[in-house]
Amino acid sequence: MRMYDLIMKKRNGRALEQDEINFMVEGFTNGSIPDYQMSAMMMAIYFRGMNEEETLNLTMAMAHSGDVLDLSDINGLKADKHSTGGVGDKTSLVLGPMVAALGVPVAKMSGRGLGHTGGTIDKLESFEGFSVDISTEKFIHNVNSIKMSIIGQTADLAPADKKLYALRDVTATVDNMSLIASSIMSKKLAAGADTIVLDVKTGSGAFMKTEQDSVALAKEMVQIGKGAGKHTVAIVSDMDQPLGFAVGNALEVKEAIETLKGEGSKDLLELCVTLGSYMLFGTNNAKSIEEAREKLYGTIEDKSALAKFAQFVKAQGGNAAPIYDTSLLPKASIIEEIVSEKEGYVEHIITDEIGIVSLILGGGRETKESEIDLAVGLVLHKKVGDYVKMGESLATIYANDKEKLKAAKERFIKTYSFTSEKREKPK
Ligand code: URA
Repeated sequence: MRMYDLIMKKRNGRALEQDEINFMVEGFTNGSIPDYQMSAMMMAIYFRGMNEEETLNLTMAMAHSGDVLDLSDINGLKADKHSTGGVGDKTSLVLGPMVAALGVPVAKMSGRGLGHTGGTIDKLESFEGFSVDISTEKFIHNVNSIKMSIIGQTADLAPADKKLYALRDVTATVDNMSLIASSIMSKKLAAGADTIVLDVKTGSGAFMKTEQDSVALAKEMVQIGKGAGKHTVAIVSDMDQPLGFAVGNALEVKEAIETLKGEGSKDLLELCVTLGSYMLFGTNNAKSIEEAREKLYGTIEDKSALAKFAQFVKAQGGNAAPIYDTSLLPKASIIEEIVSEKEGYVEHIITDEIGIVSLILGGGRETKESEIDLAVGLVLHKKVGDYVKMGESLATIYANDKEKLKAAKERFIKTYSFTSEKREKPK
């Protein structure tokens, strides 16, 4: 079999067979298929698509490209959650500790930033010393002892997705339904949890821009999860504006900490409670969604979720001091306000562009080798439906480089549109 022939087959719009997909995933994982051929294949898949059978075969090949974790040594049903990617999406940092504080084992495999969206692992590295590169034994031990651990993909766990994810990130091949479904579900299946809750984003900051496409993606992933014997639920949530206010790694960690302290944004907390309630219900830890919601709000009130977050960060080698003093998080050297040149109600925010503004500042990767600047990003002060006066601040921008700041500001100012008519705040 030759990769060249498979690229040609897909380029010409034909479906790949299971043995061809296995050959491609194996070869890419062991290095015999180079990045440039896989990039061409990703672009062919982007334009030609994959049918359900191909998507399932790709998912299974990637899930089995390394070990599949056996979490049977962890007591109780294990829950995992994954987002399809958004802007300002710091949900896992809040939701994981809330669920774990209630004694439900959270065994999660996370990723890094992708395209215009941020990644949980990059954000967590804002804590000095924190690592997701831990052994399977330690992962299982931590979930058993403190009820929460997050790992990244390694040479042992879903390595095919790790390599492919990094390649898609820099070749404009992220926003394809089959590639997203197989990427997410291969990780979820390899990480071994019993209950999987998927947060499928929809809107201008999501990879799926329309509700119809988002629902189709959600259905496809739920079907793969159920087929693999996992209790799988998907929530479709709004990403037509950033979630919360902060966008950028350390800035999002700060907002997550504030939310765990009960002082954060309401939309973020509402989404965490909704997703968390299905994690609790799906692991038989609540009799109803309403009961689960109440329990989750309780972890914010009694600060047990905040304490759990600190315990989790320490258990993975991180310095947890910033949780109690957020001024210890990485700091940018330049802080500026961006003021509105118009007046009116915010009608729309081009949300993927906000993600790109953060990327331009250094908060995301331009190439596979790019180093991330954890301190940069922006904090919005106005969201959809808010009234803005001329000269009022729309956002505070955090930068470490004047040239990048200039480019980011020019791009940011085009992301907001205004209307003179009062506009409902989106749900
Ligand atoms: N999250 C993933 O893990 N993979 C994707 O392709 C998109 C979002």
